[in-house]
Amino acid sequence: MAVFVVIMSMVVLGFSICTALLRWNEVKYRKKGLPLGTMGWPVFGETTEFLKHGPNFMKNQRARYGNFFKSHILGSPTIVSMDPDLNRYILMNEAKGLVPGYPQSMLDILGKCNIAAVHGSAHKLMRGALLSAISPTMIREALLPKIDESMRRHLSNWDGKTVDIQEKTNMMALLSSLNQMAGNESSSIAEEFVPEFFKLVLGTLSLPIDLPGTNYRRAFQARKNIIRMVEKLIDQRRTSTSTQRDMLGCLMNTEDSRYKLNDEELIDQIITILYSGYETVSTTSMMAVKYLHDHPRALQELREEHLAIRKAKGPSHPIDWNDYKSMKFTRAVIFETMRLATIVNGTLRKTTQDMELKGFFIPKGWRIYVYTREINYDPFLYPEPLTFNPWRWMDKSLESHSHILLFGGGSRLCPGKELGLAEISIFLHYFVTRYRWEEVGGDELTNFPRVAAPNGLHLRVSSY
Ligand code: HEM
Repeated sequence: MAVFVVIMSMVVLGFSICTALLRWNEVKYRKKGLPLGTMGWPVFGETTEFLKHGPNFMKNQRARYGNFFKSHILGSPTIVSMDPDLNRYILMNEAKGLVPGYPQSMLDILGKCNIAAVHGSAHKLMRGALLSAISPTMIREALLPKIDESMRRHLSNWDGKTVDIQEKTNMMALLSSLNQMAGNESSSIAEEFVPEFFKLVLGTLSLPIDLPGTNYRRAFQARKNIIRMVEKLIDQRRTSTSTQRDMLGCLMNTEDSRYKLNDEELIDQIITILYSGYETVSTTSMMAVKYLHDHPRALQELREEHLAIRKAKGPSHPIDWNDYKSMKFTRAVIFETMRLATIVNGTLRKTTQDMELKGFFIPKGWRIYVYTREINYDPFLYPEPLTFNPWRWMDKSLESHSHILLFGGGSRLCPGKELGLAEISIFLHYFVTRYRWEEVGGDELTNFPRVAAPNGLHLRVSSY
C-alpha cells in the first residue's frame, strides 16, 4: 500500500511539474492579438513534435488553430503560415520588416556576407554580383559546356554496377558546381575540397554549440580550410595574365561593374552558390530517378525526348542552350518531382519590428515559417495530388501560378532556378540515354525535415 501511495504521489508530482512548465511557456509568450497555438516546453518548445511528426504535426495544429498559428520551434517563438495568399505577401514584402530568419548556425558557417545574412542595399549588391555570375548569358556561353563535361565524366562506367544514386547525385551536384566555379583548377582541389564541404553542410544544420567534437565546431574548421583553398585560387588568378570564363572569373572581374566585391564578400558568395545549389539539385535528381523508375510511361516519354536530341547531334556534341530549352517534358518531370517530393518545405523569415499580419499582432524578433509544403498537395491546384503526373506541367501557365513557390518569391526568388533546372536536365539526359536501371529494393526514404535515403538508394545499372 505504502509503495502504491509513493508511486501515485510521484506520478501526481511529475504531472503537476509538466503542467506548470507547459503553462509557464504559454504565459511567457502570451500577448494580446497573437494568433492561436501552443508554445510547448520552456526552451525546447514543440521542436521534438515538429521534427518527429513533421507534416502531421502541422496538419493537426492547422485543424485546431487555422492556417496561421503560433508555436515555438527550432529555438524561437514562431508563427507558422500555411495561408497561400499570405505566404506570397510575406515573401514579397521584405522591405516591411520581413527579413530572412535562418538559424544562427547556418549564418555563422556560411559567413556574414552570405546572401541570407544581408538585407536592403547590401542584399542588392550581393544579389547583383551573384546574378551576373549565373545569368542566362553566362549559363548559355560558359556554364552549360562545363555542366555537360561534368555529367559526361560523372556518368561514365556505371554499366554492370550497383550504385547508390543518392551518393552519386550528391557528388554530381557538388563536382558540377565546382567545375562551373573554377573550371580546370577545380579538378586539382576537388579531392581536398569535397570532404570539407560535406562537413560544412552538416554544421549548418546543427545546434550552434562551439565545443570540441560537435558538427558546429567541425564545420567552422571546414570553413577555414575552404577559405584557404579559395584564397589560393584567387591569388593564382590575380597573378595570371589570362582571364577565365567561369563563375569565379565573373565574380572577380568587377572592374567596370556596379557590383565590386571585396575578398571577404567574394569568398562568401562562392560558398553561398556552392551551398545553395547543392542539396536542392542533388535531392531533386535522386527523386526524379526514383519517380521515373516507378512510372515507366513517364520514363519512356522522357527517354524519347533525349534520344531525339542525341540523334540530331552525334555522340560527342555537348548539350547547348537550345537543346536545354527544347526539353519540355524533362522540365515538367523536374517540377512534378519537386512538388510531389516537396524538396523545399518552406522558407524562414524574421520580423525586424512589431507588425500586424492578417489582423494578428506579430512581435519583433519572432520567426515566421512560410510553410509551403501543403500547397503542393492542394487538389484544386493539382487534381489527384498524390499521383506523379508530369503532364500537368505541360500547361506552362501552372509554373507561374501565384500560389506556387517552389523557388521562393519576391526579392529572394531563387537566382539559381534556370541553372539548377539545366543541371538536373543534363544529368537526366546522360542517365537515360546511357543506362537502364532497376532498384535493388528495400531502401527506406524519409520525407521530413529533409528528403533523404538514410541508407542510400541502390540501383542495378546496365547499358541502354
Ligand atoms: C532545384 C533546385 C533549386 C531549388 C528548388 C531552389 C529553391 C530555392 C528557394 C525556395 C529559395 C528561396 C529562399 C528564401 O526565400 O529564403 C532559393 C534561394 C536561393 N537560391 Fe535556390 N534553389 C535551387 C537551385 C539553386 C542553385 C543551383 C543555386 C546557385 C547556383 C541557387 C542559389 C540560391 C540563392 C543564392 C538563393 C538566395 C537568394 C536571395 O536571398 O536573394 N539555388 N532557392
